[in-house]
Amino acid sequence: MNTLYYGDNLDILRKKIKDETVDLCYIDPPFNSKRDYNQIYNNVGTEDPAQAQAFTDTWVWDSIAVAGFQEILDNAYGRFTHQAVDLLKTLHAVLGEGSLLAYLTSLTLRLTEIQRVLKPTGCLYLHCDPTASHYLKLILDAIFCAQGGDYLNEIIWKRTNARSTERRWPRVHDVIFYYSKSSKFNFLPLKVAADKAKLPHTLITVGSIKYQTYDLTGAGVTQDGESGQTWKGFNPSTFGRHWANSEAQREEWDAKGLIHWAKAGTAGGFPRRRDENPFIPEERQVTMADVWTDVDRINQSAKERLGYPTQKPLALLERIIMASSGDGDVVLDAYCGCGTTIDAAQRLKRKWIGMDITYQSTAVVLRRLEKTYGKAFAEKVVQSGIPKDMKSAIALAHKKDDRLRKEFEKWAVLTYTNNRAIINEKKGADAGIDARAYFMTGKTDNAKIIFQVKSGGVKRGDIATLRGDMAREKAALAVLITLEDPSAPMLREAKSAGQYRHETMGREYDQISIVTVQEIVEQGKRLDIPMSLEVLAEVQRAIESKQSDLPF
Ligand SMILES: C[S@@+](CC[C@H](N)C(=O)[O-])C[C@H]1O[C@@H](n2cnc3c(N)ncnc32)[C@H](O)[C@@H]1O
Repeated sequence: MNTLYYGDNLDILRKKIKDETVDLCYIDPPFNSKRDYNQIYNNVGTEDPAQAQAFTDTWVWDSIAVAGFQEILDNAYGRFTHQAVDLLKTLHAVLGEGSLLAYLTSLTLRLTEIQRVLKPTGCLYLHCDPTASHYLKLILDAIFCAQGGDYLNEIIWKRTNARSTERRWPRVHDVIFYYSKSSKFNFLPLKVAADKAKLPHTLITVGSIKYQTYDLTGAGVTQDGESGQTWKGFNPSTFGRHWANSEAQREEWDAKGLIHWAKAGTAGGFPRRRDENPFIPEERQVTMADVWTDVDRINQSAKERLGYPTQKPLALLERIIMASSGDGDVVLDAYCGCGTTIDAAQRLKRKWIGMDITYQSTAVVLRRLEKTYGKAFAEKVVQSGIPKDMKSAIALAHKKDDRLRKEFEKWAVLTYTNNRAIINEKKGADAGIDARAYFMTGKTDNAKIIFQVKSGGVKRGDIATLRGDMAREKAALAVLITLEDPSAPMLREAKSAGQYRHETMGREYDQISIVTVQEIVEQGKRLDIPMSLEVLAEVQRAIESKQSDLPF
C-alpha cells in the first residue's frame, strides 16, 4: 500500500517497517555542502542563516546527536555491526563532536534500519555529494558489506555546468552510492541512445552506406600455429598482435564480403571485419555506465519544478527505479522531500513508501500527486501521522493516549505555522503554552507569538488565561487554536485585547486571535506573518529534534 509518513524516519522505520519488506531504497539526506568545508571538518565558525531553506540541513552536536552516538556505542540491542561501532568511535576521535559527526551518527542509525528493511534481493542508492561522500562510503561499507552486502557503484551525476571562479575546479557533480543487501540483488542494465555527434572512428563507408568494423587481431604475438601466420599478405605480429579468429573463419567472412580491405597504400590499411547490417546512428545504443551526464538538474524553467530547494529530477529517479526494481516492487524513500522518488515510482507502477520529517514536505508531496494523478488518487494515499480532514483531526485529538493528544497540539500548531513554531515540551508554570514562534519586526529584531491548542471545553476564561500567558512570556501576539467553535463572548474577549501594529508589514494584527481546526484543515488557514530565516532555521531544528512520538 502506498504510504506517506510524516515524522522522523528513524522512528517510522523502527516502528512501522518490517524486516525484509522493501525492494529498493533511494535516499537523499540533507547536507549543506555550500558551507565551508574546513568549517564542517574542524567545527569552527558560525552558520550562515541565509542558507537556511525549507528544511534545516544543518547538523548540530546536540542531545539528539549525543543520544544517537551513545546508542551506537552501547549497541544494547545488537542493531549495529561491530564495524559500524568501531568506525563511529574512530570518527569521534578524528572529527571531534561537531556537525559532521552529528550528521554521520544520524546516518549510521538510519542506514542500519534501511539495511534491515531491505529484502535480500534489495539494494540502496544513497545520494550525496563529495563533501561527505568519503565518510558515507565508510559507513555504508561497515553496515552493508559487513552483513553480506556489496558496494556496487559510485555513480557520478553531472548535475550542473562549470561556473565557479573560485581557486579550485568547479564542482559540478553529485555522488550516488549503490549497495546491495546480498549477492541476490536484481539489476537490469539500461541502454541509452548513443551520442549521435560522436560517431565511432571504426566506421567505413561503402557507396553511401556506413558500416561498423571490428579488429581482426588480438593483443600479443603468438609464435606457434596459424594465429601468428601471414594471411593474404598481412602479418599482425609485425605490430605486436596475432589473428583473433581462425583462418577458416576469416575465409568465410571474406567469401561473404565481410572483410574490409583498405586501399593499398592507405594508412591503417590492415583488413577488418565489417558488420552485415548498415550502421544507423539514430538506432545506436550504449549500455549506461556509472557517469551520468545526460540528466539535467531542475533549473528555473524546468517544467517539473515545484520550488522545493533540493528537488531532484524525475529522470534520475526513473533510471534508478527502472534498473533496480520491477513492476509492483516496493520502493522506499526515507527522506522524500517533495516526492520525486514517489512520483517516479508511481509512474513506473511500483508501490512506494515516503517519509519526511516536515509537514511542509508531505503537504508538497500530496499536492504533487494530486496534480499528476488526480484528486481521487491523492485521497487514496495512506497518510500516517497526518490528519487531513476534520474527522481525522478529531480522532487524533480524542485519542485516549496522552502522548497522542500532545501530538494533536503539535500537528495543529505546526500546520497552522507551516512548521515554523517551536513546540513547548515543558510541563509546569508555562504548561498552558503549546508553542512559540518568532517573527521579524525589523532587520535585527524579532517578536514572539505564543500558541495554545484546545481540543475541547473552550470557554471565555481561556482568553483571560492567554492574556496572562502573553504578559508572562512578553509575547506580542497570541493564537488560540480550537477544535470546537468559539462562543460569541470568547470572540468579543479576544477582540478586546486590541491590535498589534507590525511596522515592517505596515499592518495591524489582532493581539489575540482564535483559529479553528476546521479553518486550518478545510480552508487552509495559515499564519501570515513572515519570519526571519535565522529564526526559521532555529525553529526547524527544534521541530526536527522533537518529533519522536508520532501518532501512528
Ligand atoms: C535533500 S531533501 C530530499 C529531496 C528529495 N530527493 C526530492 O527530490 O524532493 C531531504 C529531505 O529529508 C527530510 N528529512 C531530514 N531529516 C529527516 C528525518 N530524520 N526523517 C525524515 N525526513 C527527514 C527533509 O525534511 C527534506 O525534505
